[in-house]
Amino acid sequence: DDHEHHDGNDDHELRVSKIRDGTVIDHVRGGQALNVLAILGIDGSEGEELSVGMNVPSDRLGRKDIVKVEGRELSQDEVDVLSLIAPDATINIVRDYEVIEKHRVEPPEIVEGVLSCPNTGCITTGDEPVTSRFEVLEDGVRCSYCGTIAREELASLIET
Ligand code: CTP
Ligand code: ZN
Repeated sequence: DDHEHHDGNDDHELRVSKIRDGTVIDHVRGGQALNVLAILGIDGSEGEELSVGMNVPSDRLGRKDIVKVEGRELSQDEVDVLSLIAPDATINIVRDYEVIEKHRVEPPEIVEGVLSCPNTGCITTGDEPVTSRFEVLEDGVRCSYCGTIAREELASLIET
């Protein structure tokens, strides 16, 4: 960001400290940070060092969330699935306190094992273990097994 239009996140008003090595997921839609962590399967129970800022002021988004994961560099494949709930997210890879890589999330063609099908009759929601699989559309996702299309509230379909 340029200096006139800071993002509520510059040095004199940092809400969550800078990290040394890891991944910063920035420009997440306000209120979606916990869904970001759920999709990534990160819940802190393995001792991961995490910082989460929610609903902090942002010029670009009005309000934004930020997720910082210390000690892990998330791959492009891992983060692309976030485009479903955080299409404007920026992924920053940090090494020795410096951002060494910055990229946007891009919608994947397929998401597997991330969302559960809203159709209770779908083979993926039965007792047999069948990994969920969705094709990503412009404005939603389509179950590869039963064809059900989900457009809104994708966050509510995140598998736990
Ligand atoms: N960050 C961090 N720890 C570091 C370096 C950066 O937590 N050691 C965070 C910053 O607080 C910011 C994000 O990573 O939220 C991106 O950092 P940077 O590229 O320096 O900020 P901006 O230029 O404002 O990013 P953008 O243009 O993407 O808004
Ligand atoms: Zn289905």
